[in-house]
Amino acid sequence: MLKTADATVQAAARALRAARCLVVTTGAGMSRDSGIATFRDALTGLWARYDPEELATEAAFRHNPARVFGWYAWRRRLVRAAVPHAGYHALVALERIVPELVVVTQNVDGLHRRAGSTRVVELHGSLERFSCLAARHPFPPDQVATPEADGECEPPRCLRCDAPVRPDVVWFGETLPQEASAAAWDWSARCDAMLVVGTSGLVQPAAQLPLVARGAGAVVIEVNPEPSAISPAAHITCRGPAGVVLPALLVALTEGERP
Ligand code: APR
Repeated sequence: MLKTADATVQAAARALRAARCLVVTTGAGMSRDSGIATFRDALTGLWARYDPEELATEAAFRHNPARVFGWYAWRRRLVRAAVPHAGYHALVALERIVPELVVVTQNVDGLHRRAGSTRVVELHGSLERFSCLAARHPFPPDQVATPEADGECEPPRCLRCDAPVRPDVVWFGETLPQEASAAAWDWSARCDAMLVVGTSGLVQPAAQLPLVARGAGAVVIEVNPEPSAISPAAHITCRGPAGVVLPALLVALTEGERP
């Protein structure tokens, strides 16, 4: 198990100690230690027969709204039952140490906000937000039922145009939300350190952010138990799970107090 004495954790702590502006980019691996399967882990139960990359599309929703809406209700139930692990709380603590810190996440589970992170850019949207298929009119989350029983469930209809309501997440083939995207690129271009946690780096354009940061002179630190497409762009690689490495990083950082 990784310890604070680990050389890569110490090197990462030294880089963060000098950082004025830190961007933490996270992927599905960040939620893994809270019991949420990564996006490319096999789906379980009723959904095991489906490919998430097929379900997470507008075409799938148009073809069978109740199936896709039921899948997202299942994911909402899983996420609501999850508890942010110590790695999330380490990032919240880092906000009090690094002068500027923003989290840019590909995750739609809302765990960073639940853990208390105050600056979170949700590049791929959120399971807890909804809008209509026709015009993306926002739909009140408190009017969306999340049935306990697993299975297909009919989406509600838009209060303004009667179109079916969808989760406000980015589906494959869709563009990123303009405001979130601009913020993510701006922060990545001006940070002096980037922590890349739990992403395979397989999905564009989010996978560009570490390259943007590195190109702007930032130190790029990867936290992932496995090599990823991001690894070649990382100056420092901490091979371990987010729930272990991030708390170890915080200890290493606070052990050698900031100058
Ligand atoms: N701690 C840190 N990283 C982990 C852990 C862990 N405990 N467990 C697994 N990982 C790593 C895996 O090694 C992998 O590199 O997390 C990464 C998960 O990769 P993906 O499942 O591809 O998830 P992600 O990179 O977030 O996918 C990007 O693709 O499908 C879209 O919208 C979806 O946000 C998702 C995006």
